[in-house]
Amino acid sequence: MAKRDLINITDLTTEEIDGLLDLADDMVRNPEAYYDVCRHKKLATLFYEPSTRTRLSFESAMLELGGDVIGFSEASSSSASKGESVSDTARVIECYADIIAMRHPKEGAALVAANAVDIPVINAGDGGHFHPTQTLTDLFTIRKELGRLDHLKIGFCGDLKFGRTVHSLIEAMIRNDDVEFILISPDELKLPKYNKERLEAANAKWTETRSLEQAIPELDVLYMTRVQQERFFNEEDYIRLRDTYILDRSKLKNAKKDMIIMHPLPRINEISVEVDSDPRAVYFKQVKNGKDIRKALIMTMLKWKEEAAE
Ligand code: CP
Repeated sequence: MAKRDLINITDLTTEEIDGLLDLADDMVRNPEAYYDVCRHKKLATLFYEPSTRTRLSFESAMLELGGDVIGFSEASSSSASKGESVSDTARVIECYADIIAMRHPKEGAALVAANAVDIPVINAGDGGHFHPTQTLTDLFTIRKELGRLDHLKIGFCGDLKFGRTVHSLIEAMIRNDDVEFILISPDELKLPKYNKERLEAANAKWTETRSLEQAIPELDVLYMTRVQQERFFNEEDYIRLRDTYILDRSKLKNAKKDMIIMHPLPRINEISVEVDSDPRAVYFKQVKNGKDIRKALIMTMLKWKEEAAE
């Protein structure tokens, strides 16, 4: 059996995703049953791009499973700064660790690493491309909060062009029955053509609008996003677009009472802090869920690695 990597959420079947969500639920209910399951295993976190949640939740997840963590949190503290390639670095890390979680500013970098090594590689974000473990976090959050992943109207708001968490979550949600997508963005930050083609191919119902106010009353999930400054070529465009949407209490007046407000974080201005105390705001719960689902993922991918070696 070939080793498994997680580069895109499509690398997991729907059954496998459900299994990971169930396992994460059990880990929350019975943490003591999993204290030692990764004893003597090492996770390497290779972060060529800044992160707070993803890196620290991976590291904290591995520590809670009894394993160890090595890695770097910026390219400048690794030999990438001397010109070492991603595939050479991955081959080196394979000599020290059992599994890699990697974030890189270039699309496709995690796949390059995965193709170079025999240990599992998890994409922790590659440029504006994919962020599959944020997607698992988001799915876990929606299922916990609303009890289902189907029959939903989900509004994605903000930077849908560069927002890799949006691209990955759409990939996952198009598999579910009766999910409608409302894409809320300025013209300059619309969802890329290849993602729209995926929506079309899945026969998903989707619409585009620039108006958050018009879209909000019908939504079950509002997924806010940050305008991704680091992916802009032009500072002027970023400054012009960064505050297009600011969710505040007044905009929530017409929202459903059980709508949930999500955000992968970090937030800048797009959700006013006054919204944090609204019971519909679940973005800090998402952070906790991210650690729990990554525990389930690390344990499962190490198990798959052992099965592949048999
Ligand atoms: N949501 C997310 O990827 O956050 P970080 O950039 O802090 O990892």
